[in-house]
Amino acid sequence: SVCHKQIRRFRHSAAKNMAEEAKKKAAYAAVDNHVQNNQVVGVGSGSTIVYAVDRLAERVRQEKLNIVCVPTSFQLDVAIDGADEVDSDLTLIKGGGGCLTQEKIVAGCAKHFVVIADYRKDSKTLGQQWKKGVPIEVIPMSYIPVSRTIARCFGGEARLRMAVSKAGPVVTDNSNFILDWKFDQAQDWKEVNTAIKMIPGVVETGLFVSMAERAYFGMEDGSVQVRD
Ligand code: 5RP
Repeated sequence: SVCHKQIRRFRHSAAKNMAEEAKKKAAYAAVDNHVQNNQVVGVGSGSTIVYAVDRLAERVRQEKLNIVCVPTSFQLDVAIDGADEVDSDLTLIKGGGGCLTQEKIVAGCAKHFVVIADYRKDSKTLGQQWKKGVPIEVIPMSYIPVSRTIARCFGGEARLRMAVSKAGPVVTDNSNFILDWKFDQAQDWKEVNTAIKMIPGVVETGLFVSMAERAYFGMEDGSVQVRD
C-alpha cells in the first residue's frame, strides 16, 4: 500500500542519514586523533574520506595546520605540477627530479591536470629546450637491456643517471634507477611512450602524453601565457 511504501522510504532515508552521520563521526575522530601539524597525510578514496577531507580543511583553517595531503585515488579534482619541457600539444617531459612515476600517478588521478612552468620550458617540439633527454624509471637489474633496446628501436642513447657525487646511480623513491634517453629526432610521442612501457623492466616514462589540459608559462616580461 501507499502507506507501507512511505514507511519503507522513510526508514531507508533515516538509515542512510544515520550511516552518513556515522561516517562523519569516524572520519572526524580519525583526523582529530591522528593528524598533527607538519605531517604528510595520505588521502584515500570513497564516500567516508570526503568527511575526513572536510575535517582536515576545517582544522587547517581553524588551527592553521600545515599539512601535505597525498591522494591515492581518482577523486582528485586538480593536480598542479611543473615540467621540464612542454610542447605545442601539451606533451610533457617530466622527471628531471626523478619523481616521474609518482607524478604520473597523481596526474592520472586528477580530473584536471595543470602545468606550471617558466618560459624556458616552452617548446614547439620536445628536445628543443630540455637537453637531458626523457627520464625512464627502470628496475635496477634491467637497465642495460632496456637501454640497449631503446637505442636499437628508437635511436639516440639511454644513459644511466648518476648521483651528483658520481658515487653510484641515482636511486628513486621506488628503489629503481633512471635512464635518461637522449633522442636524436622528434617522434610520435604517444606511440613511443606506449612502446617503451612494453619493454620488460620499464616502470614508467617521463613522457606525459594527453594528460595536461592547460599550461601556465611565466614569461620574462612578468606576464603569464596560457596554453590549452
Ligand atoms: C620532477 C619534475 C619537475 O616537475 C620538473 O623537473 C620541473 O621542475 P622545476 O619546476 O624545478 O623546474 O618532473 O621529477
